Amino acid sequence: KNGLNTRFIGQNIHWEYEVNSTNSLALQLADQGYPEGTLVVSESQKQGRGRLGRSWISQPETGIYMSLILRPTFVPIQAARITFISAIAVVEAVKEVLGIDARIKWPNDVMIHGKKTAGILTELRAEMESIHYVVVGIGINVNNMYFPKALREKVTSLVLEYQEKVSRIKLLQALLRTFERWYLRALNEQPGQTFERWRELSCTLGNLVEVNLGDEIIRGLATRLEPNGSLYLKLDSGEERQILAGDVTMIAS
Ligand code: BTN
Repeated sequence: KNGLNTRFIGQNIHWEYEVNSTNSLALQLADQGYPEGTLVVSESQKQGRGRLGRSWISQPETGIYMSLILRPTFVPIQAARITFISAIAVVEAVKEVLGIDARIKWPNDVMIHGKKTAGILTELRAEMESIHYVVVGIGINVNNMYFPKALREKVTSLVLEYQEKVSRIKLLQALLRTFERWYLRALNEQPGQTFERWRELSCTLGNLVEVNLGDEIIRGLATRLEPNGSLYLKLDSGEERQILAGDVTMIAS
């Protein structure tokens, strides 16, 4: 009746016209016991949050700003899977609805023609051995026509790439369906299945990159991705470095 072809992802919808952040709201609702699969979605965010303490520009009625509450049965060290499947689901939904090939820039930026179109922010409440819940937030630039000047080289939207207004509802339906398919796989995982797909869609692997680690910037060849989500760089010195979090810029070679 809601046009959703899913078993539980998005079957419970919490919609607001405006919120501070769908992730913050979803964390509160998860604390109150809202069930697995609850979708928190808003037309705009006043304080959309990004990774590494950044903000996420959330123009009203243009993008998709959403968060899902999940209560996965796997252990915390496997939580990277949630981020993998979110990025995979965005890529596959964009392909299904618009026929556009998007790729994943490490760790989880969805890129079209080298520009960022969507971002993912995963927040976990867990103890050593068990996950209480996970909130995964997805922001997609859909019908955004303009970006601040400083971002124009780096950021794009689906309408700018597709050249036609995009139905956010259709995209959301496809996204939830794809997400559920991958989430069910992740729960009953044949080892590495979601990781393999994430790696296959990576546009970082094999490229020369620069990584901003906050206190230093390093440069090297992206040689390896690991199932825990980490990236390995081979530096000019020959040294191999494992990166767990940071900001990647591709270097044209
Ligand atoms: C990033 O690329 O840094 C992650 C951006 C994540 C943005 C989404 S928008 C919906 C959800 N609510 C938030 O406050 N952030 C995420």
